[in-house]
Amino acid sequence: MSMKSRFLGVALAALAPFAIAAGAQAKEIKVGVVLPYSGGAASFGDQIDKGMNLFIKSNPDAFGGHTVKLIKRDSKRPGGDIAKNAVRELITRDKVQILTGFVFSPNAMASAPLVTQGKVPMVIMNAGTAWIPKLSPYIARVSFTMWHAGYPMGKYAYEKLGCKSAAAGYTDYPPGKDSRDAFKTGFESAGGKFLESIPMGGPREVPDFTPFFQRVKNAKPDCFYVFVPAGNHASAVVKTFANLGMKDAGIKLIGPGDITQDTKLQGMGDDAVGMVTVHHYSADYKTPANQAFVKAWKAAYGNDTTPDFMGVAGWDGMAAIAHAIKTQDGNVTAEGTIEALKGWKYASPRGSIMIDPETRDIVQDSNVHRVVKKDGRLAIEVIDTIPQVKDPCKALKIGKCK
Ligand code: PHB
Repeated sequence: MSMKSRFLGVALAALAPFAIAAGAQAKEIKVGVVLPYSGGAASFGDQIDKGMNLFIKSNPDAFGGHTVKLIKRDSKRPGGDIAKNAVRELITRDKVQILTGFVFSPNAMASAPLVTQGKVPMVIMNAGTAWIPKLSPYIARVSFTMWHAGYPMGKYAYEKLGCKSAAAGYTDYPPGKDSRDAFKTGFESAGGKFLESIPMGGPREVPDFTPFFQRVKNAKPDCFYVFVPAGNHASAVVKTFANLGMKDAGIKLIGPGDITQDTKLQGMGDDAVGMVTVHHYSADYKTPANQAFVKAWKAAYGNDTTPDFMGVAGWDGMAAIAHAIKTQDGNVTAEGTIEALKGWKYASPRGSIMIDPETRDIVQDSNVHRVVKKDGRLAIEVIDTIPQVKDPCKALKIGKCK
């Protein structure tokens, strides 16, 4: 052994006790991740996954010296059953300490009783039906409720877009009905005349929207509010609206930002120009925090990629989990996690967010988006902001939100 390596050996031995002491305290927290990793919604799972991983990579110190082990399960479909089985296994066999992910509302709803029984906290990264956190005291949500967009969109349509009458079309499952109710409530409270609402197929397959849209065209509303679960559904909505000449017929296509999702926007072409939506995030936000986030995303995943509202939810959800782990110094319980998240404030790429201590739901800005064409690409322009919105469904105590 050379002098040098003998010296190194001694130095390492001297350091070892400290390393062991530190290692004894550092915990690895098992986090069960339930997302659609295959099937028609796989791009949603991919977005959220990328957002989570980017947070972990960029913020190694946020976990208070502890680490996370992500145990991933494919929820495949929106129906609830596969996700519920995955959650049961994650709790009983894998002994996860935190559950996260959940794109589709029925998957979060079906899993809620297991969260309560198993005393494992759930941090929801998408599923937007307003009353979901009411299903278990151990649920907190970092994404949105359908009312963050639908309710202000209703008011804005009447007050600023000059729509005296409106119709709504929605994907026929809980968040679709919730989004319809949110829009209708906001629109009617402002003074608008709500003509009709049309269920337009399920979340699993993209339907042919033509018969539904034709019915709306015949009814001639000033505004047509549409909720579909982002992705390929949204692309088909814009295409059908254009094919039927509804814009030229004087109808304005509006909705939550799910129908102008960043990852789908360029593919929508010029038909999307002029659409107005309300949402809490676009990759086009000009704030320094968002520009840094988008830059880090492109550096990690490629210049031709972009985060969207699901990607930012993955990032923010992991920030919430890190905060809970750090606050509890790695001794994670359901009560401790929820306590840590109540009132938690964070400077997200989307803007300031907070978890409302009473409802365990997110408080955030709702922004009015307009699709514009700029430098040869479609872009989201923020034309108005309703600051720090608490879920209006719970604030107004409507239906199951009471
Ligand atoms: C939901 O199932 O809650 C959901 C899915 C996709 C969206 C919004 C909400 O874009």
